[in-house]
Amino acid sequence: MSSSVSPKIPQHVAIIMDGNGRWAQQRGLPRIEGHRRGVETVRTITDAGREIGLHTLTLYAFSVENWNRPQDEVGALMGLLEYYLKKELNTFIKNRIRLRTIGRTQDLPAGVQKHLNHTIEATREFTDYTLVLALNYGARTEIIDATRAYAAAVAAGKAKLNDDAWATFSRYLYTADLPDPDLIIRTSGETRLSNFLLMQGAYAELVFTPVFWPDFSKADLLAAVEEYGKRERRYGLTSAQLKNPTPSAP
Ligand code: IPE
Ligand code: IPE
Ligand code: MG
Repeated sequence: MSSSVSPKIPQHVAIIMDGNGRWAQQRGLPRIEGHRRGVETVRTITDAGREIGLHTLTLYAFSVENWNRPQDEVGALMGLLEYYLKKELNTFIKNRIRLRTIGRTQDLPAGVQKHLNHTIEATREFTDYTLVLALNYGARTEIIDATRAYAAAVAAGKAKLNDDAWATFSRYLYTADLPDPDLIIRTSGETRLSNFLLMQGAYAELVFTPVFWPDFSKADLLAAVEEYGKRERRYGLTSAQLKNPTPSAP
C-alpha cells in the first residue's frame, strides 16, 4: 500500500463505472471498444481493491435501464460479460475472490447465468474479499423486490408488520448480508447516482472523478480512498459529539 494513502480504508467501495462510450468516441472507435477496455479496468481495480485491503468491492456493470440501449450494444455487453466470467474464474480462485451479484440476474441470458452460478459456487468459501457485480440492477426494482419478499414473509407469519427497524427490512434487499458502501465513486464526470444503491448509500461518502472508466487506474482508486479518509462521517451528530463522545445514558 502506498504510504501517501490515509490509514482510514473503507470496508466497502462501490463504483459506478461510467464513460466507456465517450472514451471510445473520443478515439473514433466504436462504443463496444470502450466496453472492452472497461473490462480490463475491472481486472485492474478488482486486484487493486484486494491489495489495499477492501472487504467488499461493488461494481455497477449493467442497470435495469441499460436494456433500452441499441440492441447490438446490449448484445455485445452480454457477450463481454460471459467472456469475462469464463476468463476470470481461475484468477478468482487463485486470488481467493468471492463473486456475488445484486440485481435481477434471473433475467440475464442463460449463458451468462450459467457462468455466474458456476463462479459464485466455486468461490463461495472465500470470505476475505468479495466482488459484487450489480447486474440488471436498479435501486427501485430492488425496493419493489424487497417489499414483495417482506410482504410474503408477513403473510407467512415469518415477519411482523409493526417491526419498523431498518435492520429488519434491509434483510430483504439484495444486499442482505453485505455491509453498506462507505464510499461510492463515479467516473466520467457525471455527478448522479443513476438508480444505484439508493438506500444502502444513505450515508456513503461520494467521490466523483472526471476520468473515464477505461482510464481509471489504481492511483485513481487510491486518490478516492485518500479523499474518503479526509471526510468526517457525522451520521446526524455534531462534529463536537464525534470528538468527545459522551457515554450513553444507563
Ligand atoms: C458505462 O459506460 C458502461 C455501462 C453503462 C454498461 P457507458 O456505456 O455509459 O459510457 P458513456 O456514459 O456513454 O460514455
Ligand atoms: C449507470 O451508467 C449504469 C452503469 C454504470 C452500469 P449510465 O451511463 O447508464 O447512467 P446515465 O444514463 O448516464 O444516468
Ligand atoms: Mg454512461
